[in-house]
Amino acid sequence: MKSKVNREKIIHICLMDVLKMKGLDEISKLLIDWYENNKRDLPWRFTKDPYKIWLSEIILQQTRVDQGRSYYDKFVEEYNTIQDLAAADEESVLRNWQGLGYYSRARNLHYAAKQVVNEFDGVFPTSYHDILSLKGVGTYTAAAIGSFAYELPYAVLDGNVFRVLSRLFAEKTDISSGQGKKVFSMLAQNLLNKKNPSTHNQAMMEFGALHCTPQNPSCNDCPVNTYCIGLKSGEVAALPVKLKKTKVRNRYFNYFMIDDRGKIAIQKRGNNDVWQGMYELPLVETQEAIDSEKLVKLELLQGVKNVQLLSDTKHVLSHQRIYCKFWKVSLKSSGNQEFNFLSKEKIHELPKSVLVNNFLNEFYF
Ligand code: ADE
Repeated sequence: MKSKVNREKIIHICLMDVLKMKGLDEISKLLIDWYENNKRDLPWRFTKDPYKIWLSEIILQQTRVDQGRSYYDKFVEEYNTIQDLAAADEESVLRNWQGLGYYSRARNLHYAAKQVVNEFDGVFPTSYHDILSLKGVGTYTAAAIGSFAYELPYAVLDGNVFRVLSRLFAEKTDISSGQGKKVFSMLAQNLLNKKNPSTHNQAMMEFGALHCTPQNPSCNDCPVNTYCIGLKSGEVAALPVKLKKTKVRNRYFNYFMIDDRGKIAIQKRGNNDVWQGMYELPLVETQEAIDSEKLVKLELLQGVKNVQLLSDTKHVLSHQRIYCKFWKVSLKSSGNQEFNFLSKEKIHELPKSVLVNNFLNEFYF
């Protein structure tokens, strides 16, 4: 405990030294100049509407800018105001989110829209702490919305900003640790141009995304290379330090396509797992991959006539690797009451995971 306190103290003193160095204002100015000359024309950069900025930030947490644009356009068209989003039904929000993954973000988005309508009289909150109180909004998103929409002086800290800061200051604290978050927040906040937080924050993120890239950044023509301590010490490629690797778990899914005169069996997923509340084919998860002999012994398949493997695929999520087999199954007696058979038209409208949707596109629709 004692050593941790000392370490924090030492880091703080070092940061103060950095602060005393001339150059922080100059670094921000150079990055803003770079941004003005190199920024991408992105739709959310032409609005000060906090609702649209929030939408864009939640979408961009989930996907790259290229793909994010079309989702942003779709959401803005479908739900032009936060009232529209709050009034939508959850399934339509999930359906529009389909393909982005991590569906709890969409659910939180929907919940937070209702929060704004009910708790803030439909007016998007204007203070950092009120913005932070919205479901699904963390410190990064609150700083982004607050600075972009209202010029609130809060520095954003995302993966790109971690990288830029770690290299500029040769800061080696592990970015996946709580300590790293503290140290880098301090650095980011001290570097923030308080007169122009919006452009400063956009510039930091854009510079990390386009110039100070993870691999082979072009340090020769970097606008802040004379200030970059990481470049001077030859450590750019090793920064940032990230010790905690994401744990990935293997799972084995068996989906069953059970046909009844053109309709197929569909069920809704429960809570507390991926794709909460979305629709899919009947599923049995096993501890390991299984073949058709083991398959027919599964309880769900009692009364099965024959099975045929249609597709064998791997689906990778941030924390899970799903090995998935899709089986065509014929039941001995049709009209099994346990299953809910739906038509193509109906299934089309339901929110589904990309894994299930891709399969249905290839083998059913
Ligand atoms: N990634 C996250 N937020 C972004 C933004 N506002 N512009 C570009 N990329 C981003």
